[in-house]
Parts: sequence; structure tokens; C-alpha cells
Amino acid sequence: MPTPPVRTRWHRLRTNLVFLAPALLGIAVGVGWGWASPMPSKRSFDVTARQFAFEPGILRVNRGDRVELRVRSPDVTHGLYIDGYGVDGKVTPHGELVVRFTADRPGRFALRCSRTCGVFHPFMTGQLVVEPNLLFPGSVGAAAGAAIGAVVYAARTGRREP
Ligand code: CUA
Repeated sequence: MPTPPVRTRWHRLRTNLVFLAPALLGIAVGVGWGWASPMPSKRSFDVTARQFAFEPGILRVNRGDRVELRVRSPDVTHGLYIDGYGVDGKVTPHGELVVRFTADRPGRFALRCSRTCGVFHPFMTGQLVVEPNLLFPGSVGAAAGAAIGAVVYAARTGRREP
């Protein structure tokens, strides 16, 4: 006697749900994580370069942010070099240097004055701090969970075929 179709369908759905659970969990974790972390945004900073410091000395952004620095000098010519980001520019007295880049690498990067501006020029430094954005691991978690779920589901479905 054949099993009633309703029961078969329910059984199959239940089996599928069990094996799709890693995918659903991964997506849930990813969405939650992404929701809790800041979205990449545009960040602007007004930076003063003077003998012998950058003001502010520490620039803090999140990974993925589009960063714009407007650098002005009230005294002599200075430079702005950012280690690891390939940024190098010159700011003339009372002039303005505009630098734009995407903070795509997390970590701490040295800011350095790259034009000789006086005796303490070598000490004219600052720091760019790029915080890791949790949106990225969140979406990786979601993708990994979905992939594992899909593989398990495919293996399971394949095994049941005659
Ligand atoms: Cu400022 Cu060198």
C-alpha cells in the first residue's frame, strides 16, 4: 500500500529543512552581523599640516569607507604620505591638498610628512586606523553557511535517487 502523499511531502520537507538548517543559520548570522555593524560610508577630514605635526594626528575609519582628506598648511610646504595606501601629495603654504581613497585594508598605517619642512620634519607623523568592518565576516559567514547547506543537501538528494 502506498504512503499517503501528504505524509510523504511532509517527510521530505522535514528532511530538507534539517539539511538546509546550516544555510538558514549562516544567513541569519550574516544578516544579524551585517545589521549590527556600520555600513561603509563617506568620511571627510579637515587636516592641518604644520611644523611639525598633523592635526588630528589619528584618523579613524571603518574598512570600506570612502575617505576624503582636505589638508591645509598654515606655514610651510608639507607632504602627506600614507604607508600601504600609495597616497603621496604636497600641500603648499595656505594651499589645500585633497586626497581620496577607499579604506579597503584594515590595520594601522603611518602618515608621514614627505617634504622636508624643517629640523623636526622626520618626526612629523600621524596614523590612519582602519577598523575591520564586521559586515565582511558576516557576509562570509552567510556564504559559508549557505555553501555547506547546499553541499549537504545535494549529497543527501543525490544519495536518495535510484
Ligand atoms: Cu612637514 Cu616635513
